[in-house]
Amino acid sequence: MLLENKVAVIYGAGGSIGGAVARAFTREGARVFLAGRTREKIDKVADEIRSSGGVADTAIVDALDEQAVDQYVDAVVEQAGYIDISFNVISYGDVQELLLEITVKDFLQPIMNAMRTQFLTSRAAARYMVRRGSGVILAFGGDGPQTLPGLGGFKVALDAIEGLRRQWAVELGQQGIRVVTLKTGGIAESLPDAEPGREEIIAGIEEATLLKRAATLADVGNVAAFVASDYGRTMTATDVNISCGALID
Ligand SMILES: NC(=O)c1ccc[n+]([C@@H]2O[C@H](COP(=O)([O-])OP(=O)(O)OC[C@H]3O[C@@H](n4cnc5c(N)ncnc54)[C@H](OP(=O)(O)O)[C@@H]3O)[C@@H](O)[C@H]2O)c1
Repeated sequence: MLLENKVAVIYGAGGSIGGAVARAFTREGARVFLAGRTREKIDKVADEIRSSGGVADTAIVDALDEQAVDQYVDAVVEQAGYIDISFNVISYGDVQELLLEITVKDFLQPIMNAMRTQFLTSRAAARYMVRRGSGVILAFGGDGPQTLPGLGGFKVALDAIEGLRRQWAVELGQQGIRVVTLKTGGIAESLPDAEPGREEIIAGIEEATLLKRAATLADVGNVAAFVASDYGRTMTATDVNISCGALID
């Protein structure tokens, strides 16, 4: 198994990406600590993991709250002894409108939330990782020149995550800590069934790829497990493109 004896913290673990990553990490032998704001969502993921023999702990944590994040990571380390992997996949409250129409508050919301939470959760994990000289911090999203009209501050937030990822990577590399982003052109399965125009959106995601198919949630989990594992030991200060060619590097 790729992640035997590894301890992973996942923020937003009740969401579609977080849940998929949690399932893949436990399948590969990791012990996962699942954090989120809604008890039922994280419990559902934890129950699934436990019923297939995995080990999962849950906690209500607001990943925008400095004190809550620091106390949570302290508690995880107290319980598990160490932390190997930190993956923050919370949603950022983005309001997707044209820039000419969006309010400054709505424009800034995903940018402020993404920067605040990614900074806080990475810092809390890194404080422990530096003591052991190893660790992996993962993010999800991705930058690049491609964008679309009407995204408000969302794509700007994804670009900012990459800037932060580079900064953490150069400051933590000498201490054996890797920092990597997974980037995608969109995961069709993560669209809610009731999403208006769901089928057209999915067709658009697939059409935009070179392979004429999009990454699945299982693909996200599999790649995240590989990158977080010792097989990914050479990878840092980079993003991993799982867009099936929708994003051309
Ligand atoms: N899915 C995609 O195709 C895709 C593509 C590119 C980027 N992304 C980004 O990847 C992230 C995850 O996507 P997703 O599809 O998994 O979203 P999702 O299904 O909406 O899940 C996000 C989770 O984050 C939790 N959350 C939100 N704010 C939080 C906070 N302050 N503290 C702790 N947990 C919090 C939510 O819990 P509550 O509901 O309880 O608040 C929810 O369970 C998002 O930022 C998304 O924008 C996704």
